[in-house]
Amino acid sequence: MSELLKKVNISIEEIPGLGTFVVVPKGLEQVIVDTTSISGVDPKGENTLYRGYTIEDLGMNADFYEAAYLISYGALPTEEEYKEYRKKIDYWRTRVPEKLFDALKILPQTHPMYYGAYGVTLLGQIYAPEWRIDKDTLYDHQIRLIAQLPVIFAAAYNLAHHGTYLRPDGELSHAHDVLRMITMREPSELEVRAFESSLVLYMDHGFNASTFTVRVVGSTLSDMYSAVAAGIAALKGPLHGGANEEAMKMFLEVKKIASEKGVPMEELIVEYIKDKLAKKERIMGFGHRIYKIKDPRTDVAIEFVRKLKDGETWYKVLKNAERVMWEVKKIPSNIDLYTAILYYQLGIPIPMYTPVFASSRVVGWTSHYIEQVLNNKLIRPVEKYIGPSGLKYQPMSHRRK
Ligand code: CMC
Repeated sequence: MSELLKKVNISIEEIPGLGTFVVVPKGLEQVIVDTTSISGVDPKGENTLYRGYTIEDLGMNADFYEAAYLISYGALPTEEEYKEYRKKIDYWRTRVPEKLFDALKILPQTHPMYYGAYGVTLLGQIYAPEWRIDKDTLYDHQIRLIAQLPVIFAAAYNLAHHGTYLRPDGELSHAHDVLRMITMREPSELEVRAFESSLVLYMDHGFNASTFTVRVVGSTLSDMYSAVAAGIAALKGPLHGGANEEAMKMFLEVKKIASEKGVPMEELIVEYIKDKLAKKERIMGFGHRIYKIKDPRTDVAIEFVRKLKDGETWYKVLKNAERVMWEVKKIPSNIDLYTAILYYQLGIPIPMYTPVFASSRVVGWTSHYIEQVLNNKLIRPVEKYIGPSGLKYQPMSHRRK
């Protein structure tokens, strides 16, 4: 046992007067903090599952409503359940309160993840000024959040950048309408399916940083809107959801240098990555806390990348980038490397990549919120204080530098 604990850097400490504590590694690496039946790596450690189905299976086959229903309620919908659920999502997507659109009109050109956190807390004040934990009501709030978060992002971004926005259209499928509102143009059928598949791939992922944040907020019995706003804040960071934007900035830099030098992008990427690694820089879109060999979501995303604009060129760039990262660092790519290219091919503005991720992960966040509050225990770890002690307050005139 003690050998095992040492292997994962865990120790047990007695603190006189306080009790017995488990000391875990920084970043909670290799630490299981609770159970969930929503998503995670299967017991054999082979696949990542949503409610029993592999992410790849759903990414290839399920539409947005089916995957969201599965994650929320635990089973794929029957035809009747599907129709009912779809109707609700499409209805609420077109019912974003006018007050909220008015509030979006005053926002400056900042990162759109701010718009999401801002919009969601406004929604909370409109729909749930007084919060109560009641099973049926929780699912109603969840549907509204899933339906309306992408509308907030698309409208706020386009208002800030173009002074106008597209209203939601309840006759279109959710993925179609969201892509249309973001890009302000009519997408093709293939583009809609590529986008929808990426939403399915992003929908949930165990206790990742933003989902854990949502669960921490939920565990205080705060409301679902505040918890989702906190999830958006956590996802914004470049080590998490923000990586897809950073990866695309890298590809565009490579594209520019390649065209200046007159060499193919797929060749230049190799030198570019080697150079960055030599300077000890991180390459965004690579590495994962769980996947050390391969992120299975990339297998689905690549299918769509290849079919979209300049697909074969981007395929070669991706494969060469992966090859050199594996040769030098033994680090695999993650989904963000692939969605970066996919969203570029779809004409989505780069600052909207992480908001798209959030518009999908909101399904997972709200499901985890519900799972947490319906079987709650306040999440409150203990710190190990290593600062000074015994100091006494001194008036300012007595303090020395
Ligand atoms: N580029 C270069 N080196 C890396 C990278 C990378 N992308 N990722 C990890 N490493 C190195 C790191 O420098 C360290 O090396 P050393 O031991 O020599 O100091 C080693 O690998 C372990 O890194 P770590 O940060 O301790 O590992 P972690 O499990 O805490 O990191 C991670 C996971 C995702 C934060 C990290 O891989 C990273 O920063 N990746 C880039 C950002 C990124 O793509 N994030 C998206 C994650 S997947 C989608 C999502 O959930 O948002």
